[in-house]
Amino acid sequence: MPHQSGFPRPPYPSPGGGHPTGGRGGCLCRGRRRLALFGGPVTGMSSEAPTLGTPFPSMAPRSAGTKVRMRNILAIASGKGGVGKTWFAVTLSHALSKRGCRTLLFDGDLGLANVDIQLGLMPAHDLGSVIAGKKTLHQATTPYPAGGFDVIAGRSGSGSLANIPPGRLQILTEDLLLMSQSYDRVILDLGAGVGKSIRLLSRAAGAMLVVTSDEPTSLADAYAFIKITAMERRDVDIRVVVNACNSTREGERTYQTLLKACQGFLKISPPLAGIVRRDTRVRESIRNQTPILTRYPNAEAAMDVEAIAERLLQG
Ligand SMILES: Nc1ncnc2c1ncn2[C@@H]1O[C@H](COP(=O)(O)OP(=O)(O)OP(=O)(O)O)[C@@H](O)[C@H]1O
Ligand SMILES: [Mg+2]
Repeated sequence: MPHQSGFPRPPYPSPGGGHPTGGRGGCLCRGRRRLALFGGPVTGMSSEAPTLGTPFPSMAPRSAGTKVRMRNILAIASGKGGVGKTWFAVTLSHALSKRGCRTLLFDGDLGLANVDIQLGLMPAHDLGSVIAGKKTLHQATTPYPAGGFDVIAGRSGSGSLANIPPGRLQILTEDLLLMSQSYDRVILDLGAGVGKSIRLLSRAAGAMLVVTSDEPTSLADAYAFIKITAMERRDVDIRVVVNACNSTREGERTYQTLLKACQGFLKISPPLAGIVRRDTRVRESIRNQTPILTRYPNAEAAMDVEAIAERLLQG
């Protein structure tokens, strides 16, 4: 399959089959309201809290142990739904691929998968066939030549994977860890919420980008996700993406609100991965099922994600 769009071609055959691959947040931090919104401290967390803020690694050594390898898996999480996780995951995968990274985008929204819809992809196989035991993850990998990355699609719209048994999910996670060795980066688009399936799947990731908007509900849910993740895992690198802000300054304020809550209650300081501005062309590119970096590469939101990709690679 020809490699399109002039992206650098990674020097390896990919598993995909030949293709290489508003509100002022500050007000939330006052007095009792903050407690109500952010739900208080993590109980039982020790001073050996996760080392947050360590650089996202440049390519992890292949020979290192699983723990190191999994650090090339980056989960996109949020807590609240509809904050732009899937759009961001697609755009980040595209931006990383443009920079020569062998990238796999894994649709980990087991309830309402829609990576393939945003990309206008018609995958021959998806996670449904993998979980049913009919296909391997490798066989369910679909190249997305226009973006230069590979995709493992979920089962769009059916919700059929939402209640996958934990044992199956564990196997899927282990398979994903193995698959990740063939890529420089795996982007794992998670579903909304803090449910068990999401938490189990997110364990495959060594780093997480928690996406929030400036809405109080979104901030509170992002905090909840960070809190639960920090309780469960000491080693995870959590960073924050503020999406759909009216301005960079507003995004900065939103981040500070979340940061203060994390520092005050959880004693951790997840760094800011970046701010993505609100942009009408996001919706338009989704409606056209074409990545924003293809359709509107100079859109503000597109350039913001490019900058985040650049910083992630710099570590
Ligand atoms: N930076 C942005 N500017 C403008 N609109 C945005 C931006 N980011 C996301 N959106 C809008 O938000 C909508 C929801 O995006 P998306 O489906 O990616 O969210 P999600 O967090 O994955 O949702 P879910 O939790 O349901 O999986 C998109 O249809 C898009 O219109
Ligand atoms: Mg989504």
